[in-house]
Amino acid sequence: MLWGGRFSSGPDPEMMRQSASIGIDIRLLDSDVASTRAHARALVAAGLLEEEALWAIDDVCQALLSQFHLGVVSPEGDEDVHSFVERFLTDQLGETGARIHAGRSRNDLVATDLRLWCKERARRLVGSARTLVEALCDVADNHLDSVMPGYTHLQRAQPVSLAFHLCAHGFALQRDVIRFQAAGAAADVSTLGAGALAGNTLNLDPSVPAEELGFASTFDNAMDAVSDRDFVADLIYACAMCGVHLSRLAEEMVLWTSSEFGFARFSDGWSTGSSMMPQKRNPDMAELLRGRSAPAIGDLMSMLVLLKGLPLAYDRDLQEDKQIVFAAADRCDDALAAATRCVQELTFDRDTMALAAASAGSWATDVAEWLVRKGVPFRTAHTATGRLVAALEERNLPLSAATDDLLADIHPELSTEVRALDDASASMAARDSSGGTAPDRVREQLEKLRAAL
Ligand code: ARG
Repeated sequence: MLWGGRFSSGPDPEMMRQSASIGIDIRLLDSDVASTRAHARALVAAGLLEEEALWAIDDVCQALLSQFHLGVVSPEGDEDVHSFVERFLTDQLGETGARIHAGRSRNDLVATDLRLWCKERARRLVGSARTLVEALCDVADNHLDSVMPGYTHLQRAQPVSLAFHLCAHGFALQRDVIRFQAAGAAADVSTLGAGALAGNTLNLDPSVPAEELGFASTFDNAMDAVSDRDFVADLIYACAMCGVHLSRLAEEMVLWTSSEFGFARFSDGWSTGSSMMPQKRNPDMAELLRGRSAPAIGDLMSMLVLLKGLPLAYDRDLQEDKQIVFAAADRCDDALAAATRCVQELTFDRDTMALAAASAGSWATDVAEWLVRKGVPFRTAHTATGRLVAALEERNLPLSAATDDLLADIHPELSTEVRALDDASASMAARDSSGGTAPDRVREQLEKLRAAL
C-alpha cells in the first residue's frame, strides 16, 4: 500500500477491487520502470541518493522486467503498475527502494509513463499507416491505365484510372501518417518533477529524467503537467480519423467486390462464405473494417467527455484514459494491418471496370470542354451537351454513331470530330491537368506519395 499512515483501517476490499487499475496499466510496466530509473537519476543529481544506489536500482529494475516477462513475478494485490514497481524495489532493496518516491507522485509518474507509451505507439502507427500507403502504391503501379468510372453521388461521373482512385486513398492515409507523427510530438514532453501538482522542495531538475528518457522537452507548469491529457486525445483523434479513412476504403472494397459492380474479387483466403448459401463469397474483413470505425469514433468521444469539466489538477477520472487509448491504438494498428492485406488480396477485373467506365454519357464533360476549346461559353456548352446526351439516349445510339445532322442540329460548332471522344481510356488519359487522372499525372502522385514515405 502506498498510503495509509493517516487511516486507522485499511481500504475496503470492494473499493480496492473497483478502483485498482493494475489489470489495465500493467501494459505501462516498461514505461514505469524506465521512468523510475530516470527519476532515480534526478535524486542522485540532487544529492538525495547515493550513486551506488542507482546501480542497485538499475539491476533490480532489469530483474523485474525479465522476471515479469518470464512469468516469475506478477502483481499481487497491487493497486496499479506504479505500486507494483515500487513494492518490488522496496522488497528487493529495502531502504533504497523506499527512497525512490521522493519528490515524485503517481500523478506526474503516470503522465510520463503514458507519454512514453503514446510516443512509442504513435511511431508504430506511423509505420503501419505507411505500409498501407505503400501497398496502395504497389497496386496502383499496375493499374495506371486500368480505366474505371469515377463517381460522385455514387453515380458514374467521369472515367478515371484505378491507380488514381487508389492514390486518393493513399493521400488520405498519408495525412494520417502526419497526424500520428503530430500525436507523437505532442506526447514528447517529460512531466517528472511536477510532483503531485506543484513541484517539490527537493530541487529536482526535470531535465535529468527528460534526457534519460529521450523526451524532447520538459513541462512548463506542474499543475498543467499532471492535468494534461491532450496528447492522449490527439492520438485517439488520429486513430479515429484513420478509422474513418479505413472505413471509406473498406466500403469501396465492399462495393467493388459486389456482384452489382464486379470490379474486384478478394482472394479465397480473404473472402468468407455463408453457412447457408453455398455460392456466397463475402467481404467480411472489409465490413469489419468499416464497422470498427464505430468504436474508433466512440473512443474519441469517451476521451473528450472524460476530460470535459475536470477541475485541475489530477483527478482519478484520468485513470480511465488508459483503457480508451490502449483500445483505440490496438484497434487502429490491427485495422491498418488488415486493410493492407485486403488491398494486396484484391484482384481487379479490368474489362468489367472498363465497360462500366464507357457507359452512356461518360464522355459528356469531355464534349462540353471540347466546345469550350472551340470558344463556346461553358454554360452554353453544358446545355448543348445535355441535349446531345438526351438525343442519343432517345435514339439509343452511342456518341461514336452520332450523325453530322444530329450534331449540327444541337450546336453549330459540334462536328463529327467529337465522336472520337466516345472512348473512356482516352478521356481518362486526356485529364492531364495537375493532380488529374492521366497516367503521367498519377505517376507524379505515386512519386509524391513514395517520397513522403
Ligand atoms: N492508477 C492511477 C492512474 O492511472 C495512478 C495515479 C493515481 N494517483 C492518485 N493520486 N490516486 O491515474
